[in-house]
Amino acid sequence: MDTQPRSPRPRVAADGPLDPTVLALLGDRVELLPWEATAGPILPVDGLYTYGHPAVDAEMLDRLPGLRVVSNYGVGIDHIDMAAASARGIPVGNTPGVLDGATADLAFALLLAASRRVVEGDRYARSPAFTSYDPGSMLGREVHGSTLGIVGLGRIGEKVARRAIGFDMAVCYQNRNPRPEVEAALGLRYSSFEQLLAESDFVVLCVPLTDRTRGLIDANALGRMKPTAVLVNVSRGPVVVTDDLLAALRSGTIAAAGLDVTDPEPLPRDHGLLAMDNLVLTPHLGSATDRTRRRMAELSVANLLAGLDGLPLPSPVPP
Ligand code: DGY
Repeated sequence: MDTQPRSPRPRVAADGPLDPTVLALLGDRVELLPWEATAGPILPVDGLYTYGHPAVDAEMLDRLPGLRVVSNYGVGIDHIDMAAASARGIPVGNTPGVLDGATADLAFALLLAASRRVVEGDRYARSPAFTSYDPGSMLGREVHGSTLGIVGLGRIGEKVARRAIGFDMAVCYQNRNPRPEVEAALGLRYSSFEQLLAESDFVVLCVPLTDRTRGLIDANALGRMKPTAVLVNVSRGPVVVTDDLLAALRSGTIAAAGLDVTDPEPLPRDHGLLAMDNLVLTPHLGSATDRTRRRMAELSVANLLAGLDGLPLPSPVPP
């Protein structure tokens, strides 16, 4: 039982440091506590605001009997034990919808950079080794006219498909359930996972991390891909088996990869992947634009305040 005197303002534990936009939106509506406040009943906690990806598990929820809401700054909620939250009647909010375009843009940036060797080319163009234009060097893979396979046709996957159509690509997809209305509207083709891997010149991963998708891209899956194929991951690192990808990039099982997420994240500084020229890596930047971050801040703060007030969340994660 929480016997401590209540603060006039609800107390919210957040992992920070928080973005100034989030802080401005919160104003003096809540009393912010450091994430360490979740470690024990030092102060009652009314809300959790997960800004990075701190784990929220059953034990933590049991330590916080007064908890009214968990609000996540982002769409992926694999760090939150949803079953435990729902069993305790604690609503969880996230920010889908506002970050799809930015994340799909980054998927395309990685796809283009990896296929046209943009980062490698940048390094070469700055180096003393670049002494004259050589039409025979640094040839890449053509994007237009190729086939894109999208694994996970949710909101982000659909935006990736729309961009691919603009690049004159044929698009196939794999999803838990076929989406005939999107197929018809965009001219996509539903494929089995194996067929998608075998036929695609580019495979883009847009699935959430779940028990079904953890380790989905392993040595077996990589072995089914074309030796000229490029893998792009904008979902979560553990969807790909890191060591298997390293082996595939080293042996030429696939041609190249573009990763916005890794497992672990970040990779150890001496990890073999960091030495690979056929890998383009970004530090989890999928939704990192000013406008998208602002929208994520607005929606996550709205979720938090609604939950603290006992109101329905504007964007609840289905239990
Ligand atoms: C998301 O929205 O899931 C991003 O990874 C940021 O958390």
